Amino acid sequence: MTIIVTGGAGFIGSNFVFHMLNKYPDYRIICLDSLTYAGNLSTLAPVMDNPCFRFVKASITDREAVFKLFEEEKPDMVVNFAAESHVDRSIENPGIFLETNIMGTQIMMDACRKYGITRYHQVSTDEVYGDLPLDRPDLFFTEETPIHTSSPYSASKASADLLVLAYYRTYGLPVTISRCSNNYGPYHFPEKLIPLMIANALNDKPLPVYGTGENVRDWLYVEDHCKAIDLIIHKGRTGEVYNIGGHNEMANIDIVKIICKELNKPESLITYVTDRKGHDMRYAIDPAKIHNELGWLPETRFADGIKKTIKWYLENREWWETIISGEYQNYYEKMYGNR
Ligand code: NAD
Ligand code: TYD
Repeated sequence: MTIIVTGGAGFIGSNFVFHMLNKYPDYRIICLDSLTYAGNLSTLAPVMDNPCFRFVKASITDREAVFKLFEEEKPDMVVNFAAESHVDRSIENPGIFLETNIMGTQIMMDACRKYGITRYHQVSTDEVYGDLPLDRPDLFFTEETPIHTSSPYSASKASADLLVLAYYRTYGLPVTISRCSNNYGPYHFPEKLIPLMIANALNDKPLPVYGTGENVRDWLYVEDHCKAIDLIIHKGRTGEVYNIGGHNEMANIDIVKIICKELNKPESLITYVTDRKGHDMRYAIDPAKIHNELGWLPETRFADGIKKTIKWYLENREWWETIISGEYQNYYEKMYGNR
C-alpha cells in the first residue's frame, strides 16, 4: 500500500504521517508538501530516515510535478491535507486560498483519474457549514446541514468539497470527505488560538482575545482526527461525507483562562481586541454517522489533551521559538499591531 499524504509537513498532516508509519509498518507513505510558511521540515525529522517514508517538495498546484510523482510512485491512495488553513490570512489575501484549496484539489484528483487509485480522501472542515447561534445549544452540524460559508477560507474548502463530489458522480472517482472540528495538539502552528496563547503566555505577552471571547469551537485532539481518517480511508463508503468531532464545545475565553491556569500566568495578560470580520459564533459537530458506521469515538478528553499539548510546547520550545523568531514577527505585527 502506497499513500500520498499532501500537506504532511503541517500540523495535522504530520501527525497523520506519524500515526500511519507507526500503525502500518508495511505501508509506504509519500509526503507531498510545498513547505509554505506553515510547513516545517524539522517536524518530519524523526521519520526522514525511515525507508517506508519519502518527502517530496512540490506544490499540489504544480500539475507536472504531481503527475510525475504519480508516474513514479503509482499510489493506491491520496489523503489531501494540503491547504491554506488560517481564516485570518484568508481575510487578508483570499487569492492563494482559491489556488491551493480549489485548484490544487482539482489537480490531485486529475492525477488520480489518470493513474487510477482505490481512494482519494479530502480532508475538509466543519467550517463549510457556517456557524450556529449561541442560544440554540440543541443544534449541531450533520452531514445534511446545508453548506453556508462565512470566510474566504471556508468558501474555498466548500468549493473543493463540491468538486470532489462532482468527480465522484461524473467520473466515478472513489472519494471520501471528512469534515472535522477544530484540532489541537503537537506541531500546531502558533498563529492559531491554542498554540498562540501558549507561546504568548510563556513569553508574558498579551493574550489577544477577539471580540468578547464568547465564540465557541468544538475541540478535538489531533490524534483522534488522524484515527478517524485512518478508519474512513479503510472502511468508509465512497461518495460519502463523514463529520468528525467529539462534543467538546468551549468558549474561546475559557480556553485562554485554562491555559493561564496551567502555565501559572495571570489572567491580566488577557486583552480583548477588535473582532475578526465575519467571525463565526459557534461550531458543533454531530458525529453520529462516523460512530454508527465505523465505530469511531474520540479517546482523549480535553482536560488530558490540553495538558499533553502544553507539556509538548514546554518540551519543544525550539520548534516554536524558531517559527516565531522569523517571518512570523511581520505577520504578528501586521495582524495584531493596531488591533
Ligand atoms: P497547516 O496550515 O498546519 O498545514 C498545511 C500544510 O500544507 C503545510 O505543511 C503547507 O506547507 C502545506 N501546503 C500548503 N499549500 C500547499 C501546496 N500548494 N502544495 C503542497 N503543500 C501545501 O494546516 P492544518 O491545520 O494541518 O490543516 C490540514 C488540513 O486539515 C487542511 O486542509 C485544513 O483545511 C483541514 N482542517 C484543519 C483543522 C484544524 O483545526 N487545524 C480542522 C479541520 C480541518
Ligand atoms: P483559530 O485557531 O484561528 O481557528 P478557526 O478560526 O478556524 O476556528 O481561532 C479559533 C477561535 O479563536 C476563533 O473564534 C478566533 C479566536 N481567536 C482569538 O480570539 N484570538 C486569536 O489570536 C486567534 C488566532 C483566534
